[in-house]
Amino acid sequence: MPALIDSNDLKEAAEKLRRGDVVAIPTETVYGLAASIGSEDGLKKIFSTKERPFFDPLIVHVASFEQARQVTREWPPLADFLARWFWPGPLTIVLPKAATTSSLITSGLDTVAVRYPAHPFAQELIRLTGTPLAAPSANKFGRTSPSTADHVRAEFPDVTVVDGGPCEVGLESTVIAVTPGEIAILRPGGITQEDIELATERWAQPVRIRRAESQESPGHLKHHYMPKVPLAIVANDTQLAEAQRDLGKVALRARELDLTDDPTQAARRLYAEMRTQEESGADFLYAVKTPAKDGGLWAAVWDRLTRAASWTPEDRSRV
Ligand code: TXA
Ligand code: MG
Repeated sequence: MPALIDSNDLKEAAEKLRRGDVVAIPTETVYGLAASIGSEDGLKKIFSTKERPFFDPLIVHVASFEQARQVTREWPPLADFLARWFWPGPLTIVLPKAATTSSLITSGLDTVAVRYPAHPFAQELIRLTGTPLAAPSANKFGRTSPSTADHVRAEFPDVTVVDGGPCEVGLESTVIAVTPGEIAILRPGGITQEDIELATERWAQPVRIRRAESQESPGHLKHHYMPKVPLAIVANDTQLAEAQRDLGKVALRARELDLTDDPTQAARRLYAEMRTQEESGADFLYAVKTPAKDGGLWAAVWDRLTRAASWTPEDRSRV
């Protein structure tokens, strides 16, 4: 039987984490499949439960700046500034790892990704466990991330889920690598490039902000977040017809993803909408990309949709 626990049972969940088990935890971005960074068994269980390849490193979740310093070898002033600006929140910072940080977490890299989540249950679980928690999104590798506890239960019926309600942001954190004078955005997410630009205007030295090349982000694959039915991104009806023809889905049950015009709402509902639509009996999904849906959080929304898509106007041969 799945051991569903009540929201108040954080102590029990922390006890499981201390014993080397995995627990699905709420964060403000998406649900994570967590293990104590002090438990090799727990860390290994993350990979086996998710069927995740070991080359894809995990994010370490902390509940204090002190813990962030403990898992890193260097804590540069610019990283400290950004952490003070955005934490707790959906920003993950990649820095040189401490010798004591397990290479299971970092996939053998010399760097570690650290984030201080904003969800109070996540923070409390970290405190009760007594160590930071390593946690990838709580989904099978390559599949859509969960933004509700029910999404996690559907995918991992045997895993204990701490239900913290629907995730406020709805898609994953922004991952950045910080070097002196430069911030590389490895994965767009809940904190936008514009947010980072605004913050760095208050920084004493000039900072270059750039979108990283895909090879700099080990787990951020071209195809990811795969829905169970083909998804196309189209700009207009002509492209919709082309996509349906290319995918052999002409006149079948096509459904448009309802993204709304508000990027905050679009991000929040994106994964739930993908799950609902793929289970609705539709055999072809599409999202309409209009010029207005650009900038800010839209960057992260289109990043995820493009990785999930079988057809985009730029790349018609993805099937
Ligand atoms: O919002 C989030 O970040 C969620 C919640 C649970 O916190 N977590 C999440 O984890 O999305 P995951 O494992 O699905 O994605 C982690 C990303 C991967 O793309 C991975 O490649 C990158 O972070 N990453 C982790 N460590 C890294 C490192 N040392 N260098 C570069 N990228 C790293
Ligand atoms: Mg993930």
